[in-house]
Amino acid sequence: MNRYGHSTPLLHFCLFFFLLSSVVFSELPSNQKTTMISLSKAIMNNTALIWDVTKDPCSWRGVTCGPSGNSSITEISLSGVFLSSSDFLPLLCQIDSLVSLDLSDNHLTSIPDKFITDCGAIGGLQLLNISRNWLGGTLPTFNGFVGLKFLDLSFNFLSGSISLQFEGLVALKSLNLSFNLFNGLIPTNLGKAMAMEQLQLSKNLFEGGIPDQMIDYLNLTLVDLNQNKLSGPVPVRIGDLSKLEVLILSTNYLSGKIPETLSSIRSLSRFAAHQNNFEGTIPSGLTTFLRNLDLSYNKLSGLIPSDMLSPSNLQTVDLSYNLLTGPIPSNTSPSMVRLRLGSNSLNGTIPTATFGKLEKLMYLELENNSLTGLVPPDLGSCQNLMLLNLGGNKLNGALPGQLGGLSQLQVMKLQSNKLVGEIPFEITQLQKLLILNMSSNSLNGSIPSTISSLRGLANLNLQGNNLSGSIPYTIASMDSLLELQLGGNQLSGFIPRMPVKLQIVLNLSTNLLAGKIPESLLQLTGLEVLDLSNNKLSGEIPSHLTQMAALTKLLLSNNQLSGIIPKLSPWLTFDANGNKDLINATTPNTSPKSGKKGKSVTTASVIGFAAVGVVIGIAISYNFYKIKFYVAVVKYHGITAAIRTCLWRSKSNVI
Ligand SMILES: *[C@@H]1O[C@H](CO)[C@@H](O)[C@H](O)[C@H]1NC(C)=O
Ligand SMILES: *[C@@H]1O[C@H](CO)[C@@H](O)[C@H](O)[C@H]1NC(C)=O
Ligand SMILES: *[C@@H]1O[C@H](CO)[C@@H](O)[C@H](O)[C@H]1NC(C)=O
Ligand SMILES: *[C@@H]1O[C@H](CO)[C@@H](O)[C@H](O)[C@H]1NC(C)=O
Ligand SMILES: *[C@@H]1O[C@H](CO)[C@@H](O)[C@H](O)[C@H]1NC(C)=O
Ligand SMILES: *[C@@H]1O[C@H](CO)[C@@H](O)[C@H](O)[C@H]1NC(C)=O
Ligand SMILES: *[C@@H]1O[C@H](CO)[C@@H](O)[C@H](O)[C@H]1NC(C)=O
Ligand SMILES: *[C@@H]1O[C@H](CO)[C@@H](O)[C@H](O)[C@H]1NC(C)=O
Ligand SMILES: *[C@@H]1O[C@H](CO)[C@@H](O)[C@H](O)[C@H]1NC(C)=O
Ligand SMILES: *[C@@H]1O[C@H](CO)[C@@H](O)[C@H](O)[C@H]1NC(C)=O
Ligand SMILES: *[C@@H]1O[C@H](CO)[C@@H](O)[C@H](O)[C@H]1NC(C)=O
Ligand SMILES: *[C@@H]1O[C@H](CO)[C@@H](O)[C@H](O)[C@H]1NC(C)=O
Repeated sequence: MNRYGHSTPLLHFCLFFFLLSSVVFSELPSNQKTTMISLSKAIMNNTALIWDVTKDPCSWRGVTCGPSGNSSITEISLSGVFLSSSDFLPLLCQIDSLVSLDLSDNHLTSIPDKFITDCGAIGGLQLLNISRNWLGGTLPTFNGFVGLKFLDLSFNFLSGSISLQFEGLVALKSLNLSFNLFNGLIPTNLGKAMAMEQLQLSKNLFEGGIPDQMIDYLNLTLVDLNQNKLSGPVPVRIGDLSKLEVLILSTNYLSGKIPETLSSIRSLSRFAAHQNNFEGTIPSGLTTFLRNLDLSYNKLSGLIPSDMLSPSNLQTVDLSYNLLTGPIPSNTSPSMVRLRLGSNSLNGTIPTATFGKLEKLMYLELENNSLTGLVPPDLGSCQNLMLLNLGGNKLNGALPGQLGGLSQLQVMKLQSNKLVGEIPFEITQLQKLLILNMSSNSLNGSIPSTISSLRGLANLNLQGNNLSGSIPYTIASMDSLLELQLGGNQLSGFIPRMPVKLQIVLNLSTNLLAGKIPESLLQLTGLEVLDLSNNKLSGEIPSHLTQMAALTKLLLSNNQLSGIIPKLSPWLTFDANGNKDLINATTPNTSPKSGKKGKSVTTASVIGFAAVGVVIGIAISYNFYKIKFYVAVVKYHGITAAIRTCLWRSKSNVI
């Protein structure tokens, strides 16, 4: 006897109401009405579902009935209503006209046997969706369900291996088991009739090879085996899947060559196999029909086939992190949106003429190769380019001013090349730029004062060049700047006022800067690292500089500073070596020289260090600087102060 059978006053009322209203509302068979009333009773209590039981069930949210003239219930969707008990599930199976049942996005933990037997008997049921629930344990065997075409069990906690549980599903076209804990071999018994079209097995623990039998499902259009533990080669027969549109093999341990037969699948538009152990050369013709290709993070070697980038449908290609050599093919598809060839051993020049015509190109990443020659001026015509990464090559010559035409550019990385000449002022017209990295080149001349037009710039790295002249005073107005790296140049003159939002680092080290350390630096209240070492700075250290709230590192070594070192805040790493007139007042046998903080361990600091463990336990802080900071506090002020500071800092979120 199931508990939904009990009569209650409410049920009586509802039945009465339906007798009254049925004339007005619908021709819904009375047994379906009864079932729906029982259902509402069974589930409305604990869920987010609100059904107006005084109305025709066909009007209830999530309930769909057949066309007029046949108003049986055909679809029920109980998606996302916080269902947790599975007890009511068999009740649903009394609606024998059901075509689609959606139970997704709930908290169901099991599928009752009675649900399998009862719903399995509904010949017309085509879709069963129990994705995004909390189903655990092993799979039930799906007996019956002869009409079932779509079965979605994704995003659950189902485990175990799969053998014949789906074999009876003769109509099955779409099976989604992704995001579960299934193990064992890739299932190959997926319905005797071999009707399978979409097979989603990603994010499980499947192991072994890709079985040859999978290729007997000749109607497959989508195969997703992403993120499993599959190994061995891809069967050559995969080319027989002539209707395949999407093939995803990424993040496994697959090896061997990329099968050439894939080139013959005219319908294949997306092929992803990144993060495997594929080796050998990329077969020529692979991209003839493709739109998206991702082979990054493998061990592919040899040349990039000359026809590889040119097919006109091609939109994205990612070959980064392989062992590819030789030149970048010179013809590129006009549809190209993203081209990533970084971290290979490509050489030769960046093909000129072609890139200029790429109006759709948004991401161009060629970094960490051995490319030579100039940065092509035509690149400036890529109207939609957002990211340009050419860092870590051997590019030489001067930067073309045409790059100033990249009006959508947000990231420009040209670091670690052999670029010479001046920074073209046109680059300061890139209104959308967020990151500009030109470090480690041989750029000369001065920093254009128009640099301050880059209003959105957050990271500016020009370190390790040959830039001279003074730092433009306009820099103060760069309101978005968080990181400014100008170290290792020939910059001279005074340190101007700096943008107040600077946070990550202000590095002016290893230049020819003179004059005093400006008091205005005290306004950089969020600054964490300040490196002014290896310059010609003179005068005293501003007394509050060593107490700045966020500062963790202050490097002033090798200047001409004088006076007394101000009291250091306890969490500060400080270096002022090589300032011969600087006096460390806290040194007992006053020596004019200052050095790094003493490492002598006193009894007090031993106790302090022992207490650090406790403090660290209290502060839920794994960050290196924080730990260092608490060590320092204990060492200098004792445990109570450390705890107090810890509480204060965690409240005010300083670090
Ligand atoms: C519905 O809630 C009432 C009181 O909250 C409870 O007595 C009743 O057993 C619940 N019914 C079901 C089917 O859970
Ligand atoms: C109404 O539609 C359902 C589902 O499509 C079907 O099972 C049933 O036989 C139909 N009834 C009539 C009277 O057409
Ligand atoms: C199952 O439901 C989810 C939403 O919860 C949806 O994203 C998914 O597409 C559905 N599956 C099928 C096969 O319709
Ligand atoms: C499961 O896979 C099927 C077939 O590809 C798809 O239609 C469905 O949306 C997927 N389910 C979810 C929750 O993404
Ligand atoms: C494969 O698809 C075709 C066209 O949709 C269909 O006629 C054929 O019956 C399908 N094959 C199987 C085994 O279901
Ligand atoms: C540069 O490329 C090589 C070869 O692919 C790779 O091993 C290395 O990790 C890359 N370096 C960076 C910084 O990405
Ligand atoms: C590129 O490297 C290959 C060896 O991998 C070498 O034979 C060839 O001459 C190089 N080409 C250029 C233009 O440097
Ligand atoms: C800039 O390039 C340098 C290498 O020269 C690298 O260390 C740094 O992280 C890069 N910065 C940004 C913001 O890309
Ligand atoms: C910087 O310029 C000087 C001459 O002004 C030159 O000797 C030196 O090699 C250059 N340094 C770099 C890294 O290009
Ligand atoms: C910058 O270097 C180039 C050669 O690379 C040289 O012709 C030019 O005079 C230099 N400019 C400055 C301002 O030093
Ligand atoms: C500051 O820049 C110099 C020169 O480029 C570099 O050697 C130093 O490591 C940088 N300092 C910090 C703290 O990163
Ligand atoms: C100053 O001297 C004291 C005692 O020798 C030492 O602990 C401290 O680290 C020194 N401070 C600096 C900035 O060198």
